[in-house]
Amino acid sequence: MSATPQHSTNIVPQKTAVSREDRMRVSGQRGAVLWFTGLSGSGKSTVASAVEQKLNAAGRLTYLLDGDNVRHGLNGDLGFSDIDRMENIRRVGHVAKLFWDANVITLVSFISPFRSERQFARELIGADFAEIFVDTPIELCEQRDPKGLYKKARKGEIPAFTGISSPYEAPEQPEIVLKTGEESLETCVDHVLAWLRYRGYTEG
Ligand code: ADX
Repeated sequence: MSATPQHSTNIVPQKTAVSREDRMRVSGQRGAVLWFTGLSGSGKSTVASAVEQKLNAAGRLTYLLDGDNVRHGLNGDLGFSDIDRMENIRRVGHVAKLFWDANVITLVSFISPFRSERQFARELIGADFAEIFVDTPIELCEQRDPKGLYKKARKGEIPAFTGISSPYEAPEQPEIVLKTGEESLETCVDHVLAWLRYRGYTEG
């Protein structure tokens, strides 16, 4: 598990006057973290975005943290070495925890290729965490190649590309498995919404 580096000393955590439960009374919803993991081009962001749209239409407060977006801002200093990917996920795990603490239904869409970092995020959030494995075979991701990155990676133009020259460790016990190659987008979205309903995050 990723240890959080501690460079600052003389820091004492402050207890805030308003708790998560207090915020829950105002927002009328309990936070959860839906952590989508899978290869580039597997469909993580497509499914996450469609789930978010449905939740938004149903009046739920949501936020989608997407790797490609967060890497333009907060994590703009990170590349794709193992160490940088670990730091990427460590930071986004903490950001997701803040959103969860604010009772937002938080969707995280990062390749997050390492089991240890996903386990770190799971432990950080606790019971309100669902690991969603977007289980799309690499052949299909490569065929889709929406950003043309597999083509470049095969030509050796992108070093350490996940699934080609950098590992992807598939989840062992994810809460949800989505087969985007076999099931429609609608079916995949329904699986996620059903989990949220069953666990009491949404009604109906
Ligand atoms: S992670 O491995 O650190 O979790 P993250 O989800 O943030 O990755 O970013 C992945 C996105 O960055 C991919 O969807 C792709 O568009 C882009 N990308 C650029 N270089 C690489 C690379 N070497 N490996 C994988 N994805 C890459």
